[in-house]
Amino acid sequence: MKVNVKNHEDNGASNFIGISIINGDRKISFLNYGARVCEWIVPDKDGKHEDILLGHEDPTDYLVHPYYFGAAIGRTAGRIRNGEAVIGSTPLKLTQNDGPHHLHGGSHGFDTLYFDHEIEEQEDRVSIIFNSTLDDMTDGYPGNLDIEIRYTYTEDDRLTIDYRITTDQETLVNPTNHMYFNLNGDLKDDILNHTVNFGNAEYGKVDEMVLPLGENGIIKSNEKTIAFRELVESPDPQFSQFNGLDHPFMMTEESVVLSTPNGRSIILESEDPVVVVFTSNDFNFSDATGRRFYPYCGLTLEAQMPPDDINMNPSSKTILPAGGTFAKRTVYQFNIQ
Ligand code: GAL
Repeated sequence: MKVNVKNHEDNGASNFIGISIINGDRKISFLNYGARVCEWIVPDKDGKHEDILLGHEDPTDYLVHPYYFGAAIGRTAGRIRNGEAVIGSTPLKLTQNDGPHHLHGGSHGFDTLYFDHEIEEQEDRVSIIFNSTLDDMTDGYPGNLDIEIRYTYTEDDRLTIDYRITTDQETLVNPTNHMYFNLNGDLKDDILNHTVNFGNAEYGKVDEMVLPLGENGIIKSNEKTIAFRELVESPDPQFSQFNGLDHPFMMTEESVVLSTPNGRSIILESEDPVVVVFTSNDFNFSDATGRRFYPYCGLTLEAQMPPDDINMNPSSKTILPAGGTFAKRTVYQFNIQ
């Protein structure tokens, strides 16, 4: 395996550092800004190599477009109602960056940090270790935070994400990753031909601003897999209100398989209870290189604790005590079937 590091100083974007891991004819690329996964080039069943992630060639695009492409998300993924939460007896007033609500850790979340990086190379794997910090009371959260996000890519096209977060005061932590997959490759077709193995999927109903209602819905399916086209085009008001999906799905098995007819699949392995699926329902923009992003051009699989858990569950595991360490692992395994 080979590693290339590109300092983007040449185009005036001096803070941006891109790191690519080359695994034979496959490639995965990361960016220090937001500890992002920007590109994942893999073959289909006919040996055609294409990018299965949404990303931008010009890193300054990540400053402009608010969709969190490939980014590390934190301190907390999803929305917190009205930016209000109480931990212990301490009321928090978090940045309201999504109407009245708090989204994806606020305006100075993990996605906005320029992470330091280290590279560890071994025979069959490469790890990129991104480190950064957040100061006490950034976006209203107590605690100085040390953040380590370790991406490990192995020869068998397995991307492992290890999070390790420490705090010096009681705070909230619920990180995830915001890669958008399109297994058709190179954005040439939308994700409506993808399937996922949620089976009789239980999902959390949400209100019109995507806040959990505390009630669950079930998608009855005779198949083990559910077709995205059916869900996105479903007359169920839960889905039609957004013209698609923006919902937490319960992890009922240890893994979730996302597939396409071209043979590519991604297996998500996680111990988290929930996977938030967002199907880029409202996308309609072009980036600096003219790449066009359109409705359903990608979907996220965000493994996490439920959004707004702190307001739904008094003993929420999103509370990290002073001096505590948060650690979790999420794996995305690429396969050709
Ligand atoms: C998702 C969120 C969506 C939208 C998106 C970014 O994780 O659930 O509502 O905000 O991020 O555009």
